[in-house]
Amino acid sequence: MKKTKWTIIAILAVLVLNACNQKSSELKQDVIGEKVESLLAKMTLEEKVGQMVQYNGFYDATGPVPTGGDAKKKYEDLRLGKVGSFLNVRGVEQVLALQKIAVEETRLGIPLIFGLDVIHGHKTLSPIPLAEAASWDLQAIEQSARTAAIEASAVGINWTFAPMVDIYRDARWGRVMEGAGEDPYLGAKVGVARVRGFQGDDLSANNTIAACAKHFAGYGFSEAGREYNTVDIGTSTLYNIVFPPFKALVEADVKTVMNAFNIVNGVPATGNSFLQRDILKGEWGFKGFVVSDWASGAEMVTHGYARDLKEAAQFAANAGSDMDMESDAFVSHLVELVKEGKVAESVVDEAASRILRVKYELGLFDDPYRYCDEIREKDLLYNEAHQKAALDMARKSIVLLKNENNLLPLQKNRQKIAVIGALANDKTSPLGSWRIGSDDSTAVSVLEGLMIHSSGFAYAKGADVVTGPVSFVQELNINTTDRCGFNEAINLAKRSEVVLMVLGEHGFHSGEARSRTQIDLPGLQQELLEAVYKVNPNIVLVLMNGRPLALPWAAANIPAIVEAWQLGTQSGNAIADVLFGEYNPSGKLPMSFPRSVGQCPIYYNHFSTGRPTNAEENVFWSHYTDEENSPLFPFGFGLSYSEFDYSDLTIDDSDPKNVKLTVTVANVGGIDGEEVVQLYLHDRAASVVRPVKELKGFEKISLKANESKTVSFVLTENELGFYNGEGEFLVEPGEFDVLIGTSSQEGLAGSFVLK
Ligand code: NOJ
Repeated sequence: MKKTKWTIIAILAVLVLNACNQKSSELKQDVIGEKVESLLAKMTLEEKVGQMVQYNGFYDATGPVPTGGDAKKKYEDLRLGKVGSFLNVRGVEQVLALQKIAVEETRLGIPLIFGLDVIHGHKTLSPIPLAEAASWDLQAIEQSARTAAIEASAVGINWTFAPMVDIYRDARWGRVMEGAGEDPYLGAKVGVARVRGFQGDDLSANNTIAACAKHFAGYGFSEAGREYNTVDIGTSTLYNIVFPPFKALVEADVKTVMNAFNIVNGVPATGNSFLQRDILKGEWGFKGFVVSDWASGAEMVTHGYARDLKEAAQFAANAGSDMDMESDAFVSHLVELVKEGKVAESVVDEAASRILRVKYELGLFDDPYRYCDEIREKDLLYNEAHQKAALDMARKSIVLLKNENNLLPLQKNRQKIAVIGALANDKTSPLGSWRIGSDDSTAVSVLEGLMIHSSGFAYAKGADVVTGPVSFVQELNINTTDRCGFNEAINLAKRSEVVLMVLGEHGFHSGEARSRTQIDLPGLQQELLEAVYKVNPNIVLVLMNGRPLALPWAAANIPAIVEAWQLGTQSGNAIADVLFGEYNPSGKLPMSFPRSVGQCPIYYNHFSTGRPTNAEENVFWSHYTDEENSPLFPFGFGLSYSEFDYSDLTIDDSDPKNVKLTVTVANVGGIDGEEVVQLYLHDRAASVVRPVKELKGFEKISLKANESKTVSFVLTENELGFYNGEGEFLVEPGEFDVLIGTSSQEGLAGSFVLK
């Protein structure tokens, strides 16, 4: 009784506190609104347009004043108040130098906002985002973004171009490494966790930064996985697959959104009024600002949408693109367009207000130098707490794909282990792609990680993966000829009990502009793997890659496979922890791994065809003549050193607005472990065909050996409904199938009727 009373008081206190917080944040918004309005009233048209211009860093900001070309123009524009933001300027000294010009030398002293691609860390790197998503651990992911924000803000950055919340289904596309995979439900949850991590509770603190939901919209559907390619998708896919993560991020108060390079059904995203005005700012009520992607305004000309740069500026501004990243479109033409009446001044006012609002929220008007603290810069980069968080995230991101006869975990100091593969000795590649602020050679290599744990191993490279210099902006040279290390590796394997082969893609093999038509092991690595297998099949294959690879031979022949992606600064330590059983792997794939590149795009939440099975035993059903339909490793799949047993699925559908499901999960594997319990739903018949299954809930639980837990889910209209082709959200009565289990393909099945 007493307990109940105190519980009620506690709940009331929380409610009052929440109400107060909401009130105070509304008040703050009002105050900011007034400030924005009064500042706007003082601004000339040129200055307002200036806020809408973002330049790439133009010269060594602390060096001499530039005397010619592009740099000179940017410098002059900055002093005239014609620039609102820079990207790619970093380091307190550099940021301070430009901020001082904006604040102390321009007429109104409006501070700049500094953006950078802080994608999976700044100096200390977490795993690539796709790998992080494999953890399904939202707290760890939030923490990872927090660490990134702390380090980035310490070098003067107050805005990251992350998270990328594009949904995609094609492993040929290099940018799959940058998002959370193929599923909109998981993608939304992971994206929101990242926004929370970057923006924190108080955006004006000097260690939080504005986040950016990108790329709005449809970029993940680039045809055939080729970078920057055409996007042509139906409205059902747009509303049910592409939009949900963006909508969730807007609801989580993401401060900025980036539009995209691609066209969407014939109209470039940057000039797309339906996307930016009707949906984002209209229906969803987005209050922040939209930045274009790099020169995507100008690219509307090459797309064949705008006749010239001036028309591109007109289309972009009118369609709701607020800030022009390095296109020169707004800075060159927007003032003139307003004077000619082709763009209403109210369009400029709205865009400038949105940008100024975010600057106010960041606290830049109170103290424009708040992100420019040299002591923070010295103390915070690579600090110990960040290493710890990066290690935690890296361990949680690893996915155990195969473990025949419990080959793993390895025994410390007791087995003769051969380590083979150039990537095992690489301190740069595991950092992955999109790591602008980081330093080469700062990852713990696999060899270094192993050394900490064990002494019983020897190393042979076998073959290089790439040759010559590697860089973010140049094509890689893949080694396809130099086999001179093969013999040494084969001989070492012969003398060893277990062979650890570390193979995969170089860190710059994925990321922007890194599409591939073959998604196998690049270069000579498959040949090396098979050559070693001939002399010693007792192989643990550690994969490092930024995308799903199609490795049917390895899956059929290699007894143990560990998906270790590119895990960032703490790579080697995390991998060693998993290999030696100090961490029990718990990751689950956020993207289907195909058997063959010919299956791409392949994804678990596909529709049923009219002929999904071979009932007649002839050829007239939906299949390939030379490959199975199913993926090699499905979405949601991942093993553990423990084993989990699912039982007692119960479904209570008495309240159609709250369908309750429970399941019991027991750890029967003899050692402590973690499991991601996944819930999938299938609406059997609807006015718009629904996928064969869709993830609608998950929970990551820890279970001690022999422990069991009951996991509960509640399905509300949000999970039970869907969008039709007109963008209406419908919840239709009828029969639903449920699967609760360990992956998208394995679990307990049930059904219920929604009345
Ligand atoms: C182009 C990329 O598409 C985008 O994601 C990135 O943020 C910008 N360049 C800025 O680097």
